[in-house]
Formats: sequence, structure tokens, C-alpha cells
Amino acid sequence: MAEPILELDGLDVTFPGRRGHSTTVVHGVSLRLQAGETLSLVGESGSGKTTIGRAILGLAPVSRGTIRFRGKVISNVPRRERRALARDIQVVFQDPYSSLNPSMRVEDIIVEPMAAAGAAGGRQRVRELLDSVGLPSDAAHRYPREFSGGQRQRVAIARALALDPSVIICDEPTSALDVTTQAKVLTLLADLQKATGVAYLFISHDLGVVNSISDRIAVLKDGRIVEVGPARQVAFSPSEEYTRALQMAAPVADPAKQRQRRLARAAARSGGPTPGANTEPNAGPNADPDKSADR
Ligand SMILES: Nc1ncnc2c1ncn2[C@@H]1O[C@H](COP(=O)(O)OP(=O)(O)O)[C@@H](O)[C@H]1O
Ligand SMILES: [Mg+2]
Repeated sequence: MAEPILELDGLDVTFPGRRGHSTTVVHGVSLRLQAGETLSLVGESGSGKTTIGRAILGLAPVSRGTIRFRGKVISNVPRRERRALARDIQVVFQDPYSSLNPSMRVEDIIVEPMAAAGAAGGRQRVRELLDSVGLPSDAAHRYPREFSGGQRQRVAIARALALDPSVIICDEPTSALDVTTQAKVLTLLADLQKATGVAYLFISHDLGVVNSISDRIAVLKDGRIVEVGPARQVAFSPSEEYTRALQMAAPVADPAKQRQRRLARAAARSGGPTPGANTEPNAGPNADPDKSADR
């Protein structure tokens, strides 16, 4: 297999606390992302997904292990070396309402990373990028507030693509969107990957969302990887109880399936027989989709 583009090896992330009480929230995480693939990281809220993404971006303290990009160690390197990587590793966040500066026009939002990196590109490049994410070129002169959540996420994706990165960390990019919009944005991300060869580290609390777009899925529980494998295998025949519980918690569009899941969850809670899976009571994430939703 080719050398991974991004490689996490035995990663611990430890946040310093008051009076020396530090907390380690990521424990020995090893992951490999190949060029052009989508690796999803799923786990319930609080399992450490965002922290791993932030560690890759140099924004969370790596206390053990290493992160390599194209074979070169990028964890705990001086800020200047980090900055050189900014063009190669981009990010799209969950909340399209707070991730775009409300006082800037879309054009300036998209140009900003190019300007910061001293990259060439102007109006023409902005038009190309808007077109590639399915927005009209007149969007350039408008403000984020004039767009819907889905359109704003398209702007955020255009900005992430501006420097032609090789990796985009997508941290719950569709979790704040309604189901129809969510599907459209996922399709867009897949199309863009085909066109550009960008690799995604796709973070989600929802196993149902990731199975359609992932090549592989890694499951995170309490800061540890509990299962990793081909997407279909992890999504449809997981080997871990925890993954099965995530499967049960994922919202499904089909009302009949929804009902079946609800019964299964109720059975799991009452300790009775569980149709379809042997979920131990309290063993998995919060089974109530409204409560476990990472909004
Ligand atoms: N800056 C921080 N300082 C201390 N603890 C943090 C910090 N950021 C996140 N955490 C803790 O790390 C754990 C994982 O959080 P996070 O990575 O946001 O989870 P997820 O994205 O899977 O919901 C949580 O217990 C959270 O409270
Ligand atoms: Mg998160």
C-alpha cells in the first residue's frame, strides 16, 4: 500500500488543568489516511473526535505519539513549520452559522486563505470555486446571512478548497442541516473528491451519515479506537458492541425501521431481548437520538 498521506501513531492528547490536574482525552490513537480516500471517525458526543481533528491542525496538545503528513512529523513542530502546512490540510466545521465571518462578503471569505498563503488567485478563482460547489457567481458579492445553512456550508467548502489541499478535515459538516440538505452536501463532497483527489477525514457522531461516503470507518469510544475497517463492514456488520449501539442510535428515514429501532432500544434499556443486536443496557452511547445528537 502507498505511504499514507496522514498518519497518526499512538496519539495521546492531554489538556492541562488547574493545579496540575491534566486530563487525557485521546488515548493511543493510530490512524492512516490514504491520498484521495475518505476515512470516517465516528463516536458519540464527547468521545474525542473534534480533539483529534484539532490535534492534526496543531490546535490541541499532543502529549504522546506522532502525527505525520507525507511522512514528515507535524506534531509539536514550531509554528512556522506548521503554517507551511496550512494549505495542505484544511477544515470544514459543523456550524455554518458561526464558521463564516458575518461582516465579510463571500468573495473575501474565499480569498482570505489564498491571500494569507500568498497564493495567486482572484475573482476568476472565486468564480471557479463557487461554481464547483454549486453556487451562482453572484454569491460572491453577498453576505453569509443571505444564505441558507446548506449554502453556507457550500461557501465553507469552497474556502477549504481554495488552496487545493490534499486533506480536508470535515468535522460534522452536515450535522446542523436537515436531512435533504445533508444528502446534497454529502453528494457534493463526494463529487469534489472525484474531481480533485482530496482526502477526507470525516468526523460524525452518526454512523448512518458516514456509511455512504466512507472508504473506511474508525470507531472512537472514550478517546480510544475500538474498531476500524472497510465502511460496509463497520456500518453493516460491526464486530464491537459499541458500534452496534451507535448503529441503533443513528436516525433512519424509514418509519418502519425507525419503529423497529425504537423497540430494540427500549428492549435494550429494560434488559429484555434485543431484536437484531445484543446491546447491553447502558453499554453504548445514549440511545435517544435527540439526546445523543451532537448539535
Ligand atoms: N480545551 C479543552 N480542555 C479540556 N477538555 C477538553 C477541551 N476540549 C475538549 N475537551 C474534552 O475532551 C473530550 C472530547 O471532546 P471532543 O473532542 O469535543 O468530543 P467530540 O468531538 O467527539 O464530541 C470531552 O470530554 C471534552 O470535554
Ligand atoms: Mg465534536
